[in-house]
Formats: sequence, C-alpha cells, structure tokens
Amino acid sequence: MESFADTPDPRLRELLSSLVRHLHAFVRDTEPTIGEWQRAIEFLTATGQKCDDERQEFILLSDVLGVSMLVETINHRKSAGATESTVLGPFHVVTSPRRELGDTIDFVGSGPACVVEGRVLSADGTPLPGAELDVWQASDQGFYDVQQPDVQPRANGRGLFTADENGAFWFRTVVPTYYPIPTDGPVGTLLHATKRHGYRPAHVHFIVTAPGHHELTTHIFVAGSPYIESDAVFALKKSLIAEFTPVDDPKQAARYGLNGPFRKANFDFVLLPTAGT
Ligand code: BEZ
Ligand code: FE
Repeated sequence: MESFADTPDPRLRELLSSLVRHLHAFVRDTEPTIGEWQRAIEFLTATGQKCDDERQEFILLSDVLGVSMLVETINHRKSAGATESTVLGPFHVVTSPRRELGDTIDFVGSGPACVVEGRVLSADGTPLPGAELDVWQASDQGFYDVQQPDVQPRANGRGLFTADENGAFWFRTVVPTYYPIPTDGPVGTLLHATKRHGYRPAHVHFIVTAPGHHELTTHIFVAGSPYIESDAVFALKKSLIAEFTPVDDPKQAARYGLNGPFRKANFDFVLLPTAGT
C-alpha cells in the first residue's frame, strides 16, 4: 500500500490501496496453492479473450458475482419516490431504432401479443412530455436479436420511443420469456462448477431520459415468471414487478391494432430531478 503513497490522484490512491488490502486479505484467508492461483489467472485470461464488440464477459462476471448490482444500488441510494434502477446488462449493444408510439418492436410474430404502456413522471407526479424510452427485450424464445443474427431481424425487440404531451407511452411487443445468460464462456464454467443456474426471470429493459432529470436504467419484470426468486444476476427489485394481465376484449384489441387476446402491462416510470441533488 505504501508503494501507492505518491499517487497524485487521491481517489486512485484510495481505490488501489483498498484493492491491495482486500486482495491480500483474501489470499491470507484462503491460502491458494500455486496451481489454484494459476487457474485463477487462466480464468481471467479466458474471460478477457471471450470479449468482443458484442460480448462483454467481464460485465457478465461482475453480474453473477453480484458486484454490478451492488455498484448500481450504491450509486442510486437517493432514489426515494423514484423508480428503482437495475443493471444495464450486456445486450444494450446498439442504439435502438426510433419508433412511433403504438408501433411494435416484434418482427418475428411467433409469441403472445402484448402491449406495454404507462407514463413518465417527475418525482412530484408531474408528467414529463417528450421523455425518451430506449427499450430492449429478448424474444419469446429467450434470445436477443444479436444472439440470433440468422433468425431474428436486426433490432428485433428494440425501440426508441418519445412520450406524448401527457408523458404517456405505449408500444406493442411479445410477452418476453425467462432466458439463460450466455453460458458458453468462462462465466458458464463458473456457474456449472458451483451448481448455479444461469436463468434470468422474464423482463423488458428500459433506459428512460428526460431533460432536467437523472437517467434511469431499469427493467420491468413479468409477475409470476420462473426464476423471479432466483435471478442469476441478482437484479430483481420487487417494485419493478408488473402484472402482464390477459385481455380478451376485441374493442381493446382493436384500439392497439391487435385482433385477438393479448396481455397488457402498465408501468409508470418516476425520474428524479437533477436540481438540488
Ligand atoms: C440482461 O438482462 O440482458 C442481462 C443482464 C445481466 C447479465 C446477462 C444478461
Ligand atoms: Fe435482459
């Protein structure tokens, strides 16, 4: 730790000193053999080698160790009254195409139809017209577009929407399903060795922005989804669970341009103003 004493940036000095203190405590505590230490280096090397423009194995490692969620939660402590945040995840890889309110983000058409609607509000309940919602989700088969380039059109399950003059938004999609995080790399090896499953409960991702407000990165989770009690990346917060209610009413279906039963989720996003925080 003394070797870092002259680090000009005090925050860097603090981070490195603490890292060394905790790493040394870990090594003293567990007394790894040379072979175990080499195995650890190989694991981290393989984790780096698995990364490319569309795959971030280090984020995934941070996710399954609960570190991403801890960092996320520490950084959003002052969110009283606002919608809770959760992890970004590795699949926000492209800027979603701009779409009109009411458009669908499903270009496969094999899953149960669904409407997601709600409002974007400030913490005092004022609607935020013109708020932007960047949305992305897995298909009803549990894959993101980038995982199935030969099956799903590019940008399937993705859309960038602008809330209307009342802060309201609505779009059509399919009911997402639970899915496994990518397990064909070192993180999968870790999960396998520890008899952990790699599933995430069904969810839709959002990044919600509005002028004068903190950006919100979150999901809405499908109530009753398998794995809702055991998210592989510890990202579930109870306040983010939404009912995807079955609707069997031709009049309502017609209102959304649908022609059969569908499911409807309603969720309001509440953003924190930046002023005074
Ligand atoms: C996701 O929800 O897209 C995700 C989050 C963390 C790890 C893997 C996937
Ligand atoms: Fe996801």
